[in-house]
Amino acid sequence: MLRIKPGPVEVGGVVLKNHLLLAAGILGTTGASLTRILRSGAGGVVTKSIGPEPKAGHPGPCVVTVHAGVLNAMGLPNPSFHFLDELAGVEGGPVIVSVFGGTPEEFRTVAGWFPGRAAGIELNLSCPHAEGYGAALGSDPGLVEECTRAAASFGMPVWVKLSPNVTDIAGCGAAAERGGADAIVAINTVKAMRISTSLRRPVLGNRYGGLSGRAIFPIAVRCVYDLYEACSIPIVGCGGIATAGDVVEMMMAGAAAVEIGSAVLEDIGIFGRIAAGLYAPDGADAREIVGCAHG
Ligand SMILES: Cc1cc2nc3c(=O)[nH]c(=O)nc-3n(C[C@H](O)[C@H](O)[C@H](O)COP(=O)(O)O)c2cc1C
Repeated sequence: MLRIKPGPVEVGGVVLKNHLLLAAGILGTTGASLTRILRSGAGGVVTKSIGPEPKAGHPGPCVVTVHAGVLNAMGLPNPSFHFLDELAGVEGGPVIVSVFGGTPEEFRTVAGWFPGRAAGIELNLSCPHAEGYGAALGSDPGLVEECTRAAASFGMPVWVKLSPNVTDIAGCGAAAERGGADAIVAINTVKAMRISTSLRRPVLGNRYGGLSGRAIFPIAVRCVYDLYEACSIPIVGCGGIATAGDVVEMMMAGAAAVEIGSAVLEDIGIFGRIAAGLYAPDGADAREIVGCAHG
């Protein structure tokens, strides 16, 4: 398999230790778990999404495993401002804080807590199961642009995480770029549901949830490919990545780095395992691989 040279990489204003990041919402709520992932070989971590007020999240069940994936409707539970205490306890980095709000003004408020405290922020404009948040704003390119501009006003690196649950993800990416984004992250989960045939009711407490894991990898590759054609800022690929081969494929579609979520739930050592298969001192320069599938 094609291997790439190891070493730090600059993506969207953030210097990562390698191309592999922890995705938002997976073990990202405590300083201790973020430190553990950084020690396990991740090139950077993204935190749980932090919003303007503390939030308990949806009633359970919130997470179920399905064929080749995970279905979740956590409902953005988070400690809001109190997360700053956890952030202060993270050893190592870089740490990118995922933030959300229901309006551009709320994005500005939450983003304003983190200059000098994080390497960058990632805007969650893509959660498919939190009413009034996430994809509710991220499906409208005008709002994507406004929220990005509001968060970017502090001058720290801003990454914008997009939803696959739209007809034109490239249009949303272009809007983020116009708003001043330093990078785009694609994708968040795919809106989905399961029904319990014994209970004759939806399985998740929230009825709808978001599908992640192996099942969504081809969707994520397509979204990254479309964004690469439409945008000139870097793209961080996310969705279903579990092997070094998946990372190379995402890079060929156009990803400058990747985020890994569901696969971490199965194997906490996944960053080290993927790095062992991906990097070699005599490997190719990653810059030659990124986007090479485009004609
Ligand atoms: C349990 C769970 C919680 C998540 N929480 C968040 C979150 O707080 N913010 C966010 O932007 N994405 C969240 N996500 C989405 C992931 O960051 C990622 O975009 C998605 O799971 C696809 O990547 P994967 O297939 O590698 O898991 C969550 C995913 C899961 C499974």
